[in-house]
Parts: sequence; structure tokens; C-alpha cells
Amino acid sequence: MVFHQIIVRFVFSILLVWSSSSVRATNSTQCNQHCGAGSIGPHVPYPFGFSEGCGIRLNCTEITGDIRIGEYLIQNVTSDTLMVNFPVNCSRPIEDLQQLDGSNYGVTWRNGLLLQNCKVPRSECPLPSELLSARLNIQSCDSKKEIISCYSEASGDYLDYRNIGYGIVTSSILIDMKNSSPMLLEFQTIELAWGLEGDCACHEDANCTNIFLPGNRNGFRCLCKHGFFGDGFRDGDGCRKGSSS
Ligand SMILES: *[C@@H]1O[C@H](CO)[C@@H](O)[C@H](O)[C@H]1NC(C)=O
Ligand SMILES: *[C@@H]1O[C@H](CO)[C@@H](O)[C@H](O)[C@H]1NC(C)=O
Ligand SMILES: *[C@@H]1O[C@H](CO)[C@@H](O)[C@H](O)[C@H]1NC(C)=O
Ligand SMILES: *[C@@H]1O[C@H](CO)[C@@H](O)[C@H](O)[C@H]1NC(C)=O
Ligand SMILES: *[C@@H]1O[C@H](CO)[C@@H](O)[C@H](O)[C@H]1NC(C)=O
Repeated sequence: MVFHQIIVRFVFSILLVWSSSSVRATNSTQCNQHCGAGSIGPHVPYPFGFSEGCGIRLNCTEITGDIRIGEYLIQNVTSDTLMVNFPVNCSRPIEDLQQLDGSNYGVTWRNGLLLQNCKVPRSECPLPSELLSARLNIQSCDSKKEIISCYSEASGDYLDYRNIGYGIVTSSILIDMKNSSPMLLEFQTIELAWGLEGDCACHEDANCTNIFLPGNRNGFRCLCKHGFFGDGFRDGDGCRKGSSS
């Protein structure tokens, strides 16, 4: 009997160790943050994850360890952005971008869209579109010599593309306009900003940043203070002392 209890305890403690490493308990549901079979494959920081109970849910292809939003592959998750792969495609309707707008994330104003066959929007990217289409080899799309334009118009923190109407979005560029002269950051990549809705639910050793989510809703992000590491969220790992693991 005693022996039996010890085994039960032993198994239970193994389960606890296992679950705290890959699955997080947020009161009633759990957030699975691991994508892949066994211990192989990427692990995303809270609030991201692949199950119910995660603050921001992404899609995981177990076999390959690919992480996606809609059909688009995620390249990188940082403390304030998601970098999404956006390859040249000559037949992608603008509506496809809606996959990249969620309640907890949206396309930032730093992106420029390369459009084809559109009623050209007033605002242009601070770069010649000819140069961009040459660099991206979009000419190959352009059999009927349709106009290629570069669009970047912000409403608040996010790119406002809904007034473009009908058109093809062949690709995108990420532009840094913080400095007076624009600087190209990345081709064929779309930057999304993310956050959780509500007031700061950060760990006591984290800084909270108040942000706007799409639709002008109030949101926040957490970042551990210097000397601490972790995701910074109260419902996540929080922050622990030490250098990064
Ligand atoms: C679950 O967590 C949320 C946010 O931390 C909290 O508001 C809610 O009361 C909790 N629910 C239960 C049943 O503990
Ligand atoms: C994940 O895939 C499901 C089913 O295809 C889809 O309904 C959902 O919108 C996707 N979620 C994300 C974040 O891409
Ligand atoms: C992801 O972003 C971090 C922080 O910006 C950077 O250090 C890292 O090189 C990036 N990884 C990839 C695969 O782009
Ligand atoms: C281009 O976009 C269309 C519309 O979303 C999609 O059906 C097609 O598979 C894409 N082509 C490539 C090569 O990804
Ligand atoms: C957190 O906030 C403090 C006070 O505003 C600031 O000095 C510190 O640099 C911040 N730390 C991080 C990691 O952002």
C-alpha cells in the first residue's frame, strides 16, 4: 500500500515537471507552447501558443514544426512583433491580408504594400516603386504592364489598407521611418504588432507597456527588467533572476 502510494507520488511529480516545462496551467485551461513531435521543434513564449488557454493562438504543423498565422509562415516572434513571411505572389487579392489582422495583432504602419492593378491610393511609400519592383523582380508578374504602386498609409499604429478596394498585393517591404531618411529593413516580410487586451497583467519584476490593439482597444505587453528573464506575463512564466537561459 505504502509502496503503491510512493509510485503514485513519483509518477505525479514527473507529470508536474513535464507539464511545467511544456504546458502551462492558466486556471482552468492550459496553453501548449511547443510545436513539433517530442522535444524537437520550436517553443514560443507566452502569450503565444497552440491551444486553448493561450493569450494569442497560432497554428502549428507538428511534423515540420512550422508556425503559421492563416497560411503565412511566422519567421520570428519578438517581445513586441511577429515577423511573417510574405513572398511575391502575382495573384494574391488584398483580402488575403485579413488573415494577418486578429484581435491581438495587426499589420504595423512600418510596412509598405506593393500593389498591382489597383486604383492607386494617394499615399506612396517614401521610395520609388520602380526600384522596389525591380529589386523584387515583380516585373515577372507584369505581363500586361499593369501599374505597380507602393502603398503605406497609417491610421494610428496600424496600416490602413481597407480603402484600397480591389487589387493584387504582390509583396511587401518593411521600412524604418524613425530617422529622417527612410531605411529599408526587409523585403517579403510583414511586421505585425501584438499585445493582450486590458490593463497591465505583468509580473512584479516586469515593465508594462500600454499599447493600442487594432480597433483602438487598450492593450499591454510585458518585458522583464534588466537582470531578469522570462516572458514577463503574470499568466505566463513571469520573470526570474539571472541571465538568459
Ligand atoms: C482565471 O484567470 C483570470 C485572469 O487571470 C481571472 O480573471 C479569473 O478569475 C480566473 N478564473 C478562475 C476560475 O480562477
Ligand atoms: C488556424 O487554423 C484554423 C483551421 O484552419 C483556422 O480556422 C484559424 O483561423 C487558424 N488560426 C490562425 C491564428 O491562423
Ligand atoms: C529574431 O529576432 C531576434 C530579435 O530581434 C533576433 O536577434 C534574431 O536573430 C531573429 N531570428 C531570426 C531567425 O530572424
Ligand atoms: C498566391 O495567392 C493565391 C491567393 O491567396 C493562392 O491561392 C496561391 O496559392 C498563392 N501562390 C503561391 C505560389 O503561393
Ligand atoms: C523598465 O523601466 C525602468 C523605469 O522606467 C527603466 O529604467 C528600465 O530601463 C526599464 N527596463 C526595461 C528592460 O525596459
